[in-house]
Amino acid sequence: MEKVTVKTKEKCYDVLIGSGLLDGAGKLIMSALGRTCRAMIVSDDAVYPLYGKRLEASLIKEGFSVSSFVFKNGEESKNLSVYGELLESCAEAGITRSDILIALGGGVTGDMTGFAAATYLRCVKFVQIPTTLLADVDSSVGGKTGVNLDAGKNLVGAFYQPEVVICDVDTLKTLTDLIMSDGISEMIKYGMICDEELFEMMESGEFFEKTEECIARCVKIKSDIVSRDEFDNGERQLLNFGHTIGHAIEKASSLKMTHGHAVAAGMAVISRAAENAGISEKCYDRLCAVLEKYSLPRECAFSDEELSGYMRSDKKRKGDSITFVVPEKIGKCVLKTVSAEKIPEILKLGRGE
Ligand SMILES: NC(=O)c1ccc[n+]([C@@H]2O[C@H](COP(=O)([O-])OP(=O)(O)OC[C@H]3O[C@@H](n4cnc5c(N)ncnc54)[C@H](O)[C@@H]3O)[C@@H](O)[C@H]2O)c1
Ligand SMILES: [Zn+2]
Repeated sequence: MEKVTVKTKEKCYDVLIGSGLLDGAGKLIMSALGRTCRAMIVSDDAVYPLYGKRLEASLIKEGFSVSSFVFKNGEESKNLSVYGELLESCAEAGITRSDILIALGGGVTGDMTGFAAATYLRCVKFVQIPTTLLADVDSSVGGKTGVNLDAGKNLVGAFYQPEVVICDVDTLKTLTDLIMSDGISEMIKYGMICDEELFEMMESGEFFEKTEECIARCVKIKSDIVSRDEFDNGERQLLNFGHTIGHAIEKASSLKMTHGHAVAAGMAVISRAAENAGISEKCYDRLCAVLEKYSLPRECAFSDEELSGYMRSDKKRKGDSITFVVPEKIGKCVLKTVSAEKIPEILKLGRGE
Protein backbone atom coordinates (compact mmCIF):
# COMPACT_ATOMS: atom_id res chain seq x y z
CA MET A 1 0.00 0.00 0.00
CA GLU A 2 1.17 3.53 -0.76
CA LYS A 3 0.45 6.41 1.59
CA VAL A 4 0.66 10.12 0.85
CA THR A 5 0.10 12.56 3.69
CA VAL A 6 -1.58 15.76 2.57
CA LYS A 7 -0.86 18.84 4.66
CA THR A 8 -3.14 21.85 4.46
CA LYS A 9 -3.35 24.84 6.79
CA GLU A 10 -6.21 23.44 8.78
CA LYS A 11 -5.78 19.71 8.38
CA CYS A 12 -3.41 16.83 7.77
CA TYR A 13 -4.83 13.63 6.27
CA ASP A 14 -3.70 10.48 4.50
CA VAL A 15 -4.42 9.29 1.00
CA LEU A 16 -4.12 5.49 1.07
CA ILE A 17 -3.64 3.70 -2.24
CA GLY A 18 -3.70 -0.07 -2.50
CA SER A 19 -5.37 -3.26 -3.61
CA GLY A 20 -8.16 -4.79 -1.52
CA LEU A 21 -8.69 -1.73 0.69
CA LEU A 22 -12.48 -1.56 0.30
CA ASP A 23 -13.21 -4.52 2.55
CA GLY A 24 -11.06 -2.99 5.27
CA ALA A 25 -12.41 0.54 4.80
CA GLY A 26 -14.35 0.42 8.09
CA LYS A 27 -11.15 -0.18 10.02
CA LEU A 28 -9.25 2.52 8.11
CA ILE A 29 -12.01 5.08 8.73
CA MET A 30 -12.24 4.07 12.36
CA SER A 31 -8.52 4.68 12.82
CA ALA A 32 -8.65 8.04 10.98
CA LEU A 33 -11.55 9.25 13.18
CA GLY A 34 -10.53 7.50 16.37
CA ARG A 35 -14.14 6.41 16.97
CA THR A 36 -17.24 5.01 15.31
CA CYS A 37 -20.39 6.99 14.54
CA ARG A 38 -23.27 7.11 12.09
CA ALA A 39 -22.13 7.07 8.47
CA MET A 40 -24.00 8.10 5.33
CA ILE A 41 -22.65 6.40 2.18
CA VAL A 42 -23.20 8.57 -0.91
CA SER A 43 -22.88 6.81 -4.23
CA ASP A 44 -24.37 6.67 -7.73
CA ASP A 45 -26.52 3.92 -9.20
CA ALA A 46 -23.65 2.44 -11.22
CA VAL A 47 -21.12 2.28 -8.38
CA TYR A 48 -23.36 1.39 -5.43
CA PRO A 49 -24.48 -1.99 -6.87
CA LEU A 50 -20.81 -2.89 -7.51
CA TYR A 51 -19.25 -1.82 -4.21
CA GLY A 52 -21.86 -0.37 -1.84
CA LYS A 53 -22.72 -3.52 0.11
CA ARG A 54 -19.05 -4.41 0.67
CA LEU A 55 -18.37 -0.96 2.09
CA GLU A 56 -21.48 -1.17 4.24
CA ALA A 57 -20.47 -4.59 5.60
CA SER A 58 -16.99 -3.37 6.49
CA LEU A 59 -18.43 -0.35 8.32
CA ILE A 60 -21.01 -2.40 10.24
CA LYS A 61 -18.30 -4.90 11.23
CA GLU A 62 -16.38 -2.05 12.85
CA GLY A 63 -19.45 -0.76 14.73
CA PHE A 64 -20.64 2.12 12.49
CA SER A 65 -24.38 2.51 11.88
CA VAL A 66 -24.92 3.01 8.17
CA SER A 67 -27.43 4.75 5.86
CA SER A 68 -27.05 5.38 2.16
CA PHE A 69 -28.03 7.87 -0.50
CA VAL A 70 -27.89 6.66 -4.11
CA PHE A 71 -28.40 9.00 -7.09
CA LYS A 72 -28.51 8.57 -10.88
CA ASN A 73 -24.98 8.35 -12.28
CA GLY A 74 -23.58 11.07 -14.51
CA GLU A 75 -22.53 14.72 -14.54
CA GLU A 76 -26.22 15.80 -14.90
CA SER A 77 -26.79 14.75 -11.29
CA LYS A 78 -24.16 17.14 -9.95
CA ASN A 79 -26.70 19.89 -9.35
CA LEU A 80 -28.45 21.81 -6.58
CA SER A 81 -31.52 19.64 -6.72
CA VAL A 82 -29.71 16.32 -6.08
CA TYR A 83 -27.49 18.10 -3.54
CA GLY A 84 -30.68 19.24 -1.76
CA GLU A 85 -32.06 15.69 -1.76
CA LEU A 86 -28.80 14.49 -0.25
CA LEU A 87 -29.06 17.07 2.56
CA GLU A 88 -32.67 16.07 3.27
CA SER A 89 -31.59 12.46 3.34
CA CYS A 90 -28.87 13.29 5.90
CA ALA A 91 -31.48 14.97 8.08
CA GLU A 92 -33.88 12.00 7.76
CA ALA A 93 -31.12 9.59 8.71
CA GLY A 94 -30.36 11.67 11.80
CA ILE A 95 -26.82 12.62 10.78
CA THR A 96 -25.41 14.94 13.46
CA ARG A 97 -22.21 17.00 13.64
CA SER A 98 -20.33 14.07 15.10
CA ASP A 99 -21.24 11.78 12.16
CA ILE A 100 -19.68 11.38 8.71
CA LEU A 101 -20.51 11.31 5.02
CA ILE A 102 -18.62 8.85 2.81
CA ALA A 103 -18.28 9.50 -0.93
CA LEU A 104 -18.05 6.19 -2.80
CA GLY A 105 -17.61 6.90 -6.51
CA GLY A 106 -16.04 9.14 -9.09
CA GLY A 107 -15.51 12.88 -9.14
CA VAL A 108 -19.23 13.68 -9.35
CA THR A 109 -19.92 11.80 -6.12
CA GLY A 110 -16.81 13.19 -4.41
CA ASP A 111 -17.48 16.82 -5.35
CA MET A 112 -21.15 16.75 -4.35
CA THR A 113 -20.61 14.79 -1.11
CA GLY A 114 -17.75 17.08 -0.10
CA PHE A 115 -19.93 20.13 -0.66
CA ALA A 116 -22.79 18.56 1.30
CA ALA A 117 -20.35 17.78 4.14
CA ALA A 118 -19.01 21.35 4.08
CA THR A 119 -22.49 22.81 4.40
CA TYR A 120 -24.79 20.33 6.20
CA LEU A 121 -25.10 21.56 9.81
CA ARG A 122 -22.36 24.06 8.83
CA CYS A 123 -19.99 21.10 8.37
CA VAL A 124 -19.68 17.44 9.14
CA LYS A 125 -16.63 15.27 8.51
CA PHE A 126 -16.30 13.30 5.30
CA VAL A 127 -14.28 10.51 3.73
CA GLN A 128 -13.48 9.96 0.07
CA ILE A 129 -13.42 6.50 -1.48
CA PRO A 130 -12.72 7.30 -5.14
CA THR A 131 -13.54 4.63 -7.72
CA THR A 132 -12.39 6.26 -10.97
CA LEU A 133 -8.77 6.93 -11.92
CA LEU A 134 -9.62 10.60 -12.37
CA ALA A 135 -10.98 10.78 -8.84
CA ASP A 136 -7.90 8.93 -7.50
CA VAL A 137 -5.39 11.32 -9.04
CA ASP A 138 -7.35 14.53 -9.23
CA SER A 139 -10.78 15.26 -7.81
CA SER A 140 -10.32 13.61 -4.40
CA VAL A 141 -7.17 15.63 -3.69
CA GLY A 142 -7.06 19.37 -3.07
CA GLY A 143 -10.28 20.08 -1.24
CA LYS A 144 -12.34 21.61 -4.06
CA THR A 145 -15.96 20.54 -3.67
CA GLY A 146 -19.12 21.75 -5.35
CA VAL A 147 -21.92 21.31 -7.83
CA ASN A 148 -22.87 22.77 -11.20
CA LEU A 149 -25.35 25.54 -11.93
CA ASP A 150 -27.33 25.87 -15.16
CA ALA A 151 -24.97 28.78 -15.86
CA GLY A 152 -21.87 26.58 -15.79
CA LYS A 153 -19.80 23.82 -14.19
CA ASN A 154 -18.63 23.97 -10.57
CA LEU A 155 -20.01 27.48 -10.02
CA VAL A 156 -20.98 26.84 -6.43
CA GLY A 157 -18.84 25.09 -3.86
CA ALA A 158 -16.42 25.24 -0.99
CA PHE A 159 -12.83 24.38 -0.16
CA TYR A 160 -13.21 21.48 2.26
CA GLN A 161 -10.81 18.65 3.11
CA PRO A 162 -11.68 15.01 3.89
CA GLU A 163 -10.54 13.02 6.95
CA VAL A 164 -8.98 10.27 4.85
CA VAL A 165 -8.97 9.19 1.19
CA ILE A 166 -9.05 5.46 0.44
CA CYS A 167 -8.19 4.48 -3.17
CA ASP A 168 -8.75 0.79 -3.80
CA VAL A 169 -7.15 0.21 -7.21
CA ASP A 170 -9.20 -2.98 -7.68
CA THR A 171 -12.26 -0.80 -8.27
CA LEU A 172 -10.62 0.49 -11.46
CA LYS A 173 -11.14 -2.95 -13.06
CA THR A 174 -14.82 -2.27 -13.70
CA LEU A 175 -14.24 1.07 -15.48
CA THR A 176 -14.82 1.37 -19.22
CA ASP A 177 -11.72 2.13 -21.34
CA LEU A 178 -13.12 5.60 -22.04
CA ILE A 179 -13.40 6.56 -18.37
CA MET A 180 -10.06 4.94 -17.57
CA SER A 181 -8.34 6.97 -20.30
CA ASP A 182 -9.79 10.20 -18.86
CA GLY A 183 -7.75 9.54 -15.72
CA ILE A 184 -4.70 8.53 -17.75
CA SER A 185 -4.81 11.88 -19.53
CA GLU A 186 -4.53 13.69 -16.16
CA MET A 187 -1.62 11.41 -15.19
CA ILE A 188 0.22 12.30 -18.38
CA LYS A 189 -0.43 15.93 -17.42
CA TYR A 190 1.34 15.46 -14.07
CA GLY A 191 4.28 13.88 -15.86
CA MET A 192 4.47 16.82 -18.25
CA ILE A 193 4.28 19.51 -15.57
CA CYS A 194 6.86 18.17 -13.16
CA ASP A 195 7.72 14.47 -13.22
CA GLU A 196 9.62 13.13 -16.21
CA GLU A 197 9.97 9.68 -14.59
CA LEU A 198 6.19 9.40 -14.27
CA PHE A 199 5.88 10.45 -17.92
CA GLU A 200 8.28 7.63 -18.83
CA MET A 201 6.26 5.12 -16.79
CA MET A 202 3.16 6.14 -18.76
CA GLU A 203 5.14 5.99 -22.00
CA SER A 204 6.56 2.50 -21.40
CA GLY A 205 3.33 1.04 -20.03
CA GLU A 206 5.04 0.37 -16.65
CA PHE A 207 1.95 2.17 -15.33
CA PHE A 208 -0.03 -1.08 -15.66
CA GLU A 209 2.26 -3.00 -13.29
CA LYS A 210 2.93 -0.05 -10.99
CA THR A 211 -0.49 1.58 -10.88
CA GLU A 212 -0.36 2.27 -7.14
CA GLU A 213 3.03 3.96 -7.37
CA CYS A 214 1.94 6.07 -10.35
CA ILE A 215 -1.25 7.18 -8.58
CA ALA A 216 0.76 8.03 -5.45
CA ARG A 217 3.14 10.17 -7.52
CA CYS A 218 0.20 12.13 -8.93
CA VAL A 219 -1.40 12.59 -5.52
CA LYS A 220 1.94 13.79 -4.11
CA ILE A 221 2.42 16.29 -6.93
CA LYS A 222 -1.09 17.68 -6.58
CA SER A 223 -0.98 17.82 -2.78
CA ASP A 224 2.45 19.52 -2.76
CA ILE A 225 1.27 22.15 -5.20
CA VAL A 226 -2.05 22.62 -3.40
CA SER A 227 -0.41 22.91 0.04
CA ARG A 228 1.64 25.79 -1.31
CA ASP A 229 -1.39 27.41 -2.97
CA GLU A 230 -4.52 26.12 -1.26
CA PHE A 231 -6.88 28.79 -2.54
CA ASP A 232 -5.83 28.70 -6.18
CA ASN A 233 -4.13 32.05 -6.69
CA GLY A 234 -0.76 31.13 -8.16
CA GLU A 235 1.24 27.94 -8.56
CA ARG A 236 -1.90 25.78 -8.58
CA GLN A 237 -2.49 27.09 -12.06
CA LEU A 238 0.22 24.68 -13.25
CA LEU A 239 -2.34 21.92 -12.77
CA ASN A 240 -4.28 23.56 -15.59
CA PHE A 241 -1.81 22.38 -18.22
CA GLY A 242 -3.92 21.50 -21.28
CA HIS A 243 -7.03 22.81 -19.53
CA THR A 244 -7.28 26.37 -20.90
CA ILE A 245 -7.75 25.02 -24.41
CA GLY A 246 -9.25 21.74 -23.09
CA HIS A 247 -12.15 23.52 -21.37
CA ALA A 248 -12.89 25.41 -24.59
CA ILE A 249 -12.91 22.11 -26.52
CA GLU A 250 -15.22 20.54 -23.89
CA LYS A 251 -17.63 23.46 -24.26
CA ALA A 252 -17.44 23.49 -28.06
CA SER A 253 -18.40 19.80 -28.02
CA SER A 254 -21.40 20.67 -25.78
CA LEU A 255 -19.77 18.45 -23.14
CA LYS A 256 -20.00 15.42 -25.48
CA MET A 257 -16.23 15.08 -25.37
CA THR A 258 -15.16 13.91 -21.92
CA HIS A 259 -12.92 16.11 -19.79
CA GLY A 260 -9.76 13.98 -19.99
CA HIS A 261 -10.07 13.65 -23.76
CA ALA A 262 -10.51 17.40 -24.19
CA VAL A 263 -7.50 18.01 -21.93
CA ALA A 264 -5.40 15.58 -24.00
CA ALA A 265 -6.12 17.58 -27.15
CA GLY A 266 -5.51 20.81 -25.18
CA MET A 267 -2.09 19.57 -24.02
CA ALA A 268 -1.11 18.62 -27.57
CA VAL A 269 -2.21 21.98 -29.03
CA ILE A 270 -0.42 24.14 -26.43
CA SER A 271 2.74 21.98 -26.61
CA ARG A 272 2.88 22.32 -30.37
CA ALA A 273 2.31 26.07 -30.07
CA ALA A 274 5.12 26.37 -27.49
CA GLU A 275 7.46 24.36 -29.68
CA ASN A 276 6.63 26.42 -32.77
CA ALA A 277 7.06 29.65 -30.81
CA GLY A 278 10.51 28.48 -29.73
CA ILE A 279 9.57 28.42 -26.01
CA SER A 280 9.91 24.69 -25.45
CA GLU A 281 12.41 21.99 -26.22
CA LYS A 282 11.14 19.37 -28.64
CA CYS A 283 8.45 17.42 -26.74
CA TYR A 284 5.33 17.53 -28.91
CA ASP A 285 6.10 14.24 -30.74
CA ARG A 286 6.72 12.33 -27.52
CA LEU A 287 3.56 13.75 -25.96
CA CYS A 288 1.51 12.76 -29.03
CA ALA A 289 2.95 9.24 -28.99
CA VAL A 290 1.95 8.65 -25.37
CA LEU A 291 -1.52 10.12 -25.95
CA GLU A 292 -1.96 7.84 -28.94
CA LYS A 293 -0.87 4.82 -26.89
CA TYR A 294 -3.90 5.37 -24.64
CA SER A 295 -6.26 6.26 -27.52
CA LEU A 296 -6.42 9.91 -26.47
CA PRO A 297 -6.95 12.69 -29.04
CA ARG A 298 -4.09 14.92 -30.21
CA GLU A 299 -6.13 17.53 -32.06
CA CYS A 300 -9.62 18.92 -32.22
CA ALA A 301 -12.15 19.55 -34.92
CA PHE A 302 -13.37 22.99 -33.76
CA SER A 303 -12.52 26.28 -35.42
CA ASP A 304 -10.10 28.74 -33.82
CA GLU A 305 -12.88 31.38 -33.68
CA GLU A 306 -15.13 29.07 -31.70
CA LEU A 307 -12.37 28.05 -29.27
CA SER A 308 -11.20 31.68 -28.85
CA GLY A 309 -14.75 32.70 -27.92
CA TYR A 310 -14.97 30.09 -25.17
CA MET A 311 -11.49 30.92 -23.89
CA ARG A 312 -12.33 34.61 -23.64
CA SER A 313 -15.37 33.77 -21.50
CA ASP A 314 -13.45 31.41 -19.19
CA LYS A 315 -14.33 32.14 -15.55
CA LYS A 316 -10.66 31.85 -14.55
CA ARG A 317 -9.52 34.59 -16.89
CA LYS A 318 -8.47 37.79 -15.16
CA GLY A 319 -8.95 41.15 -16.89
CA ASP A 320 -7.81 41.21 -20.49
CA SER A 321 -5.07 38.63 -20.10
CA ILE A 322 -4.99 34.86 -20.13
CA THR A 323 -2.52 32.50 -18.47
CA PHE A 324 -1.33 29.44 -20.37
CA VAL A 325 0.68 26.61 -18.86
CA VAL A 326 3.42 25.82 -21.35
CA PRO A 327 6.03 23.07 -21.33
CA GLU A 328 9.69 24.07 -21.37
CA LYS A 329 10.45 20.37 -21.69
CA ILE A 330 8.95 17.07 -20.55
CA GLY A 331 8.74 17.29 -16.75
CA LYS A 332 8.78 21.09 -16.56
CA CYS A 333 5.99 23.53 -17.30
CA VAL A 334 5.82 27.26 -16.62
CA LEU A 335 3.05 29.88 -16.55
CA LYS A 336 2.90 32.45 -19.34
CA THR A 337 0.40 35.27 -19.18
CA VAL A 338 -0.42 36.91 -22.49
CA SER A 339 -2.95 39.41 -23.72
CA ALA A 340 -6.24 37.76 -24.73
CA GLU A 341 -5.73 39.22 -28.23
CA LYS A 342 -2.97 36.66 -28.74
CA ILE A 343 -5.32 33.67 -28.41
CA PRO A 344 -5.95 33.21 -32.18
CA GLU A 345 -2.22 33.42 -32.89
CA ILE A 346 -1.47 30.77 -30.25
CA LEU A 347 -4.16 28.43 -31.59
CA LYS A 348 -2.74 28.85 -35.08
CA LEU A 349 0.73 27.93 -33.86
CA GLY A 350 -0.85 24.96 -32.09
CA ARG A 351 -2.20 23.69 -35.39
CA GLY A 352 1.26 23.83 -36.87
CA GLU A 353 0.47 26.84 -39.04
N1 LIG B 1 -12.66 18.60 -7.13
C1 LIG B 1 -11.73 18.67 -8.04
O1 LIG B 1 -10.62 19.20 -7.80
C2 LIG B 1 -11.99 18.07 -9.38
C3 LIG B 1 -10.92 17.83 -10.26
C4 LIG B 1 -11.20 17.21 -11.48
C5 LIG B 1 -12.51 16.86 -11.80
N2 LIG B 1 -13.52 17.11 -10.93
C6 LIG B 1 -14.91 16.71 -11.23
O2 LIG B 1 -14.96 15.31 -11.36
C7 LIG B 1 -16.04 14.94 -12.20
C8 LIG B 1 -15.57 13.90 -13.18
O3 LIG B 1 -15.11 12.78 -12.46
P1 LIG B 1 -15.37 11.29 -12.98
O4 LIG B 1 -14.90 11.14 -14.37
O5 LIG B 1 -14.85 10.37 -11.93
O6 LIG B 1 -16.97 11.29 -13.06
P2 LIG B 1 -18.12 10.34 -12.49
O7 LIG B 1 -18.14 10.38 -11.02
O8 LIG B 1 -19.36 10.74 -13.19
O9 LIG B 1 -17.71 8.89 -12.98
C9 LIG B 1 -17.76 8.59 -14.35
C10 LIG B 1 -18.68 7.39 -14.61
O10 LIG B 1 -18.03 6.21 -14.14
C11 LIG B 1 -18.90 5.45 -13.32
N3 LIG B 1 -18.05 4.75 -12.36
C12 LIG B 1 -17.35 5.31 -11.34
N4 LIG B 1 -16.57 4.40 -10.75
C13 LIG B 1 -16.79 3.22 -11.40
C14 LIG B 1 -16.25 1.93 -11.28
N5 LIG B 1 -15.29 1.65 -10.40
N6 LIG B 1 -16.69 0.97 -12.10
C15 LIG B 1 -17.63 1.24 -13.06
N7 LIG B 1 -18.15 2.47 -13.24
C16 LIG B 1 -17.73 3.44 -12.42
C17 LIG B 1 -19.86 6.47 -12.73
O11 LIG B 1 -21.07 5.85 -12.36
C18 LIG B 1 -20.03 7.44 -13.89
O12 LIG B 1 -21.01 6.97 -14.77
C19 LIG B 1 -16.52 16.24 -12.85
O13 LIG B 1 -17.72 16.64 -12.26
C20 LIG B 1 -15.42 17.25 -12.53
O14 LIG B 1 -15.90 18.56 -12.42
C21 LIG B 1 -13.28 17.70 -9.73
ZN1 LIG C 1 -8.68 18.09 -15.35
